[in-house]
Amino acid sequence: MIKHIVDDLYQIGESAIDQDGWCEAVRIYVALNDGHPLLFDAGSHIHRGQIMADLKELLGDAAPGHIFLTHTELPHTGNLSAILEAWPGTKFVVSSGILPHVEMPWWVKPEQIEYAHAGACHSYGSRQVSFSDAILKDQPGTQWMFDERTGSLFTGDAFGYLFPEACDRQFDDEMADGVPVDYFRRYHESAFRFLPMVSGDKVKADLAKVMAKRQVNVIAPTHGNAIRGDVPKHVARVNEALSEICQ
Ligand SMILES: [Fe+2]
Ligand SMILES: [Fe+2]
Repeated sequence: MIKHIVDDLYQIGESAIDQDGWCEAVRIYVALNDGHPLLFDAGSHIHRGQIMADLKELLGDAAPGHIFLTHTELPHTGNLSAILEAWPGTKFVVSSGILPHVEMPWWVKPEQIEYAHAGACHSYGSRQVSFSDAILKDQPGTQWMFDERTGSLFTGDAFGYLFPEACDRQFDDEMADGVPVDYFRRYHESAFRFLPMVSGDKVKADLAKVMAKRQVNVIAPTHGNAIRGDVPKHVARVNEALSEICQ
């Protein structure tokens, strides 16, 4: 399902449901970017049919210019082959911390890969995207991207949340009181098993630095819907969840 977030930024992707009725989203974010579309992550292969149909509807005649990968786990890269089959000229932007000859599929050609270093800011079509090391990650070399035009921070696994099926398509400002702390806690404690051994104060301080350095209008997690209504409130709720999980 295609959902418009802000400006030329859209969200697609599906969700998986567990036996207790909790859902986990696997999203792709798409910026139309004046005819040079940018994709942030590539979605899960288990949702391939719907994702490719949504992408084709959203992009029309435009081919994706660049796909930014937060990291290389399957839920984030599972549709690379289908996307390349449809649009062979698409480039990938990966962090300089990953090992593409090991972590990228063998059929991705070296000339299709561009590197981004933490702290760098580059132009892609009419847009500036800056890069930072991910504060919360389950794979080395994970990066976050920031879209300077819309103020959207693409956080990969971080800021995800589990939710009941009724919330599957709702942004925070379409829910009664936004995303509850409990939804963030459920996700973060299962996605980042190391957190009980981590200083919560340190993680929260690092997150605060990321937020202080840029005007974040939207947080775009892969495993949740975009948070666009009240970013500070939801950063505070993630901090609260971290306080419950961490040391
Ligand atoms: Fe991950
Ligand atoms: Fe993930």
